[in-house]
Amino acid sequence: MSQIAELKALRGKATGSVGLVPTMGYLHDGHLALVRQARDENEAVVVSIFVNPTQFGAGEDFASYPRDHERDLALLKEERVDIVFVPPVEEMYPAGFCSGVEVGRVTERLEGVSRPGHFRGVATVVAKLFNIVEPTRAYFGQKDAQQAVVIERMVADLNMNLEIVIAPTVREPDGLAMSSRNIHLNSEERRAALVLWRALSLAQQLFSQGERQAESIRHRMSALIQEEPLASIDYVSIAGAASLEELATIEGPALVSLAVRIGSTRLIDNIVLGG
Ligand code: PAF
Repeated sequence: MSQIAELKALRGKATGSVGLVPTMGYLHDGHLALVRQARDENEAVVVSIFVNPTQFGAGEDFASYPRDHERDLALLKEERVDIVFVPPVEEMYPAGFCSGVEVGRVTERLEGVSRPGHFRGVATVVAKLFNIVEPTRAYFGQKDAQQAVVIERMVADLNMNLEIVIAPTVREPDGLAMSSRNIHLNSEERRAALVLWRALSLAQQLFSQGERQAESIRHRMSALIQEEPLASIDYVSIAGAASLEELATIEGPALVSLAVRIGSTRLIDNIVLGG
């Protein structure tokens, strides 16, 4: 289904709970875990597939973002999804469109520094999807930890009437977080990409051994990543899990997150310590 009016008409007929899983397609097991959870917790499930141009900056990978609609539709059919919403860009952003949702402080660090405008694009499209689908619950992955914080903030601040569900990151057996962008890695880069998980595991290990000085953990993580010749660090952060403010000492739940370029592919990952 590609038209907003068509979707709204069907939504109007649904009497029970509706779960929404917003995606940009090229589905992997992380997306399918969200779909299955939505299936378990709601009477109807809507999945949107929309590679949202407004969340990509100039020079980012909008054009090369992987797409395979036929495969996605087949996977969602197997999962018994009720509605797959695949709007064209002109349907979401018709001529004259000029509004946007601006979430404050929590968008100003981490991904927000490296990708200016990214979260305005995310918040705007997610708010539009919430208005179009009117879901009871919407499902997002912890893999995009800051996105989860931003969406929860937006929903609370703007009194949006739905529940946000954040599901754990799904990983490959060797620890690499599932991501549609992993398809861009050649075999050498795929091996190098494991450095993200190794760095996060090191943080977990140091924390388990009693280390609470965030700078010491950041430093050890960065040193480990720098040993990998194909990796270049964008950021390594240890921040309050809700505030996203960088920490000096870990006292409550801390989000350990990192963005690392492996060749030309930028990967992000995270864990929460002390949660
Ligand atoms: O996480 C994503 O895939 C996207 O940021 C989202 C939430 C579908 C909005 O375009």
